[in-house]
Amino acid sequence: MTMAKTLLIYYSADAAIREICEDSYKYGEIDVVELTETYDRGLFEVATLGALQALAGKSSVIDKTNIDFDAYDTVILASPVWAASPAPAINAFLRTTDLRKREVVGLLFGSGRTCTIAGDILRKRTALAGGSCRSIVCVPPRELKKNRVDLFSLLKKSAPIAAA
Ligand SMILES: Cc1cc2nc3c(=O)[nH]c(=O)nc-3n(C[C@H](O)[C@H](O)[C@H](O)COP(=O)(O)O)c2cc1C
Repeated sequence: MTMAKTLLIYYSADAAIREICEDSYKYGEIDVVELTETYDRGLFEVATLGALQALAGKSSVIDKTNIDFDAYDTVILASPVWAASPAPAINAFLRTTDLRKREVVGLLFGSGRTCTIAGDILRKRTALAGGSCRSIVCVPPRELKKNRVDLFSLLKKSAPIAAA
């Protein structure tokens, strides 16, 4: 029998969140893949162009990933909430990846109503990529950054958003 393996695929423009995601491998059988944009947006562009692109449902250009999904039981796709939407890099990933027969857990860095809206969008775009969202969880960035909190204990205690 092989060990259960989890893959965390994430995008974040936030250095602290990126560090928390990269640290996830410490908590078990987890591989971590960061989605990166070919064009490195500065913080000003995140708040202006990034938010507009997210709101309009646009994709950005991301670096190619080469993921063997068969190697994992669980795939977590993590994105910040920008203007009540997933980030453009996540849209790009979902539009260039075949997720047929894959179950995905959506993890959103955000809170409240805007996170629920972003979750519904993420669920739909995952379905358009052929996959299905097993659940969507909102984690407020503030809680994530609190000392000694790891991504997976937060995931476990957070209540998933019900499918619309
Ligand atoms: C342009 C922009 C728009 C945002 N919009 C929302 C929002 O609608 N709802 C929310 O809960 N958080 C929102 N946030 C906060 C992000 O969720 C938070 O910045 C993120 O989790 C941190 O990672 P990031 O730097 O990749 O955005 C927004 C942040 C930015 C920069």
